[in-house]
Amino acid sequence: MKPIATDVTDSTTRMAEMVTAQMDKPGFAIDAYFYRSHVIYQTELEQIVFKSWLYAGHVSQIPDSGDYFLFELGEDSIIVSRDDKGKVQAMHNICRHRGARVCEDMSGNRGSFVCPYHGWVYNIDGSLRAARDMEMLEDFSSDNYGLKPVRLEVFQGLMFINCDPDAADFRGPLEKMTVQLGAYDLANAKVADSKLYAVEANWKLCLENYLECYHCATSHRSYARIHTLKALAHKVKPINEAMWARADEVTGVPGIADAFYAYYGLASGFGACAYHSRYALYEGYLTGSEDGKPLAPLMGNMQGYDGGAGDFQMGPLSFMLNYPDHCVLYRFIPRGITQTDMEIVWFVNGDAEEGVDYDKGKLTRLWHSTAREDEFIIRRNSAGVNSHFFEPGPYHPEFEQMSMSFIKWYLDTLHRVSRP
Ligand code: FES
Ligand SMILES: [Fe+2]
Repeated sequence: MKPIATDVTDSTTRMAEMVTAQMDKPGFAIDAYFYRSHVIYQTELEQIVFKSWLYAGHVSQIPDSGDYFLFELGEDSIIVSRDDKGKVQAMHNICRHRGARVCEDMSGNRGSFVCPYHGWVYNIDGSLRAARDMEMLEDFSSDNYGLKPVRLEVFQGLMFINCDPDAADFRGPLEKMTVQLGAYDLANAKVADSKLYAVEANWKLCLENYLECYHCATSHRSYARIHTLKALAHKVKPINEAMWARADEVTGVPGIADAFYAYYGLASGFGACAYHSRYALYEGYLTGSEDGKPLAPLMGNMQGYDGGAGDFQMGPLSFMLNYPDHCVLYRFIPRGITQTDMEIVWFVNGDAEEGVDYDKGKLTRLWHSTAREDEFIIRRNSAGVNSHFFEPGPYHPEFEQMSMSFIKWYLDTLHRVSRP
């Protein structure tokens, strides 16, 4: 998408007025202003993205001391590393001298990070090891100039970061899914593949799209053949109830189907969303595969195929859809006003061998094609909402209920921060 025009009359006052006006239209899609305004985008980064818990990566990406990778969000870069004691941590990739990035390579193994500008040297845990000739400055202490830390929480092998030092607790919300997520033993799982889709659209369009399955029947033919989420709840109630009745026994995980909802406005703390529900696959489908047959060995503690899949949210922008034999993680990260990184990560059981126990192409086919289909419709959505003649219409009361919850939380947040 081409860069959008800048509204030179835009201001925080206008933002506050637009938020109030939009709050008076609950149930309606939001005005083009929210996708176009640079004031909005800047406020979203500061007040939402940098204060939310975000999936950063899996522990298997940095198994050894000195391993690190970069997580890029907005215009920022965060280093996630494992130190000499085996501990993982996250920090800003910004030199404490005059701000150069201290690391360019997206991943690797290092003994230190050396700033390319004036050569300050940081240990792998972010502490400052050496600042050339700075002893000339009275009172200079390297203790005061380590790379700035970023909050990090590890849960069942999944690493989450939050740029806000005062962020709400995330451990509590995550622990609510100890049983349901624990079934897959993600701490010992293997990343089979990951793909990044650079979608030319505002992050909210990507998220609103993920949160509703109204478009599934029209846009995702393969997905819709397999997953009952594409239908209204009352139409697939018997299939879901039958799956819930057998889930504990077939999977061998008591409580695997227990649902809870603490997303957006329902979350226990800002940006600490968490939900889980288990929904049924249509008869004949054991997993998310074209022919319904398994794609990989059963994961973790799973003992069988119950005809269900676990739907999870962890933080406002990260999700998982977990089948008995593989798990699919979805993450959305804003990279610009009309640019979003949509990343998918496929997990299999830790000891599964590619080419022997699973075929990577088959494993990733459904969600790769679903992501391409989403990209196709989101780009068109972006072109339409950026038109001067766009007038938002009503959300579907059931299918788009989660998109509405997100928008309500989003507007409430902007309202709270835009008041004088
Ligand atoms: S900016 Fe890094 S050493 Fe000067
Ligand atoms: Fe979709």
